[in-house]
Amino acid sequence: MENNNEVKRKILFSGVQPSGNLTLGNYIGALRNFKLLEDQYDCLYSIVDLHAITVRQDPTELRKRCLQLMSLFLALGLDPEKSLIYFQSHVSQHCELAWILNCFTYMGELQRMTQFKDKAAKHADNINAGLFDYPVLMAADILLYQADMVPVGQDQKQHLELTRDIAIRFNKIYGDTFTVPEGYIPKVGGRVMSLQDPTRKMSKSDPEDTFVAVLDDPNVIRKKLRRAVTDSDNSVFYDPENKPGVSNLMGILSALTGDSMEAISAQYDGKGYGVFKDAVADAVIAELEPIQQRYQKILGDKAYLGEVMTRSAERASRMAMRTMSKVHRKVGLAAYKL
Ligand code: TRP
Repeated sequence: MENNNEVKRKILFSGVQPSGNLTLGNYIGALRNFKLLEDQYDCLYSIVDLHAITVRQDPTELRKRCLQLMSLFLALGLDPEKSLIYFQSHVSQHCELAWILNCFTYMGELQRMTQFKDKAAKHADNINAGLFDYPVLMAADILLYQADMVPVGQDQKQHLELTRDIAIRFNKIYGDTFTVPEGYIPKVGGRVMSLQDPTRKMSKSDPEDTFVAVLDDPNVIRKKLRRAVTDSDNSVFYDPENKPGVSNLMGILSALTGDSMEAISAQYDGKGYGVFKDAVADAVIAELEPIQQRYQKILGDKAYLGEVMTRSAERASRMAMRTMSKVHRKVGLAAYKL
């Protein structure tokens, strides 16, 4: 990737928190696209363990979750020779650039971040400087690789906007240094809703029975889908307003099979919700089970995981070094060798 002699491809950077329990919503909205993105962009997937420690973590748990997440990425079929899948903490330039960018970010900007305000309220006993500075580390993640594109959900838009502001500010002072990144909005974005309250987005921070986790056992998946809230008129047609539960299940089925809502309605209307829900469960299991099997195999192969993580970190670090030497020069830090 770093020696690309062909037409220069755009760089896509994505940071993913090792917070465990990715859901079917994450899968349909983001994860399953990763494999497709790989053919279009040079992709970096960073497991952002340094961001994770801005809230208290159990060390053993954190380490385990980081390895699990890396295994899951590989199980999705990402090719580690094409995409870099690595731990943020293994590439020290993230922190180095974050420090420098700190000096170009205003307190007022960080004080305005809604995620900081939310997290500070939620962790009132631990409002640490890292939590405050979180968006600057995120800006460093992105700018370090001169990323063109960053896939972000609604909750990260403000952070990406700040990243752009910092990049533009720096470029204005020192001349062209950083690529100003764009948000990447996936083309087909099925929004998966909670199984128990289909007017809310499916979320891993809600109770267990409201979401399907990518790594849920097939029996559990079927049980959760059978218990999904629907309505009492026993008809299968797409009407998110009046039939949010049924429409959500149809959306899931359609996203996974490619069938249109009309086709799904024609096939299942009048057959009873039991049959319909089982069909949804079949489709979800058919999609996730092979991933789960690959995941288990990869997670057990420590030699392979070790190889991927070091090689990816080395390659990422080489890209990062190029940006850092440019930044050092621009800011006026002494050269390492005269
Ligand atoms: N803050 C992001 C989240 O919570 C994770 C993240 C860290 C990130 N660094 C990033 C996302 C860089 C995109 C780009 O989801």
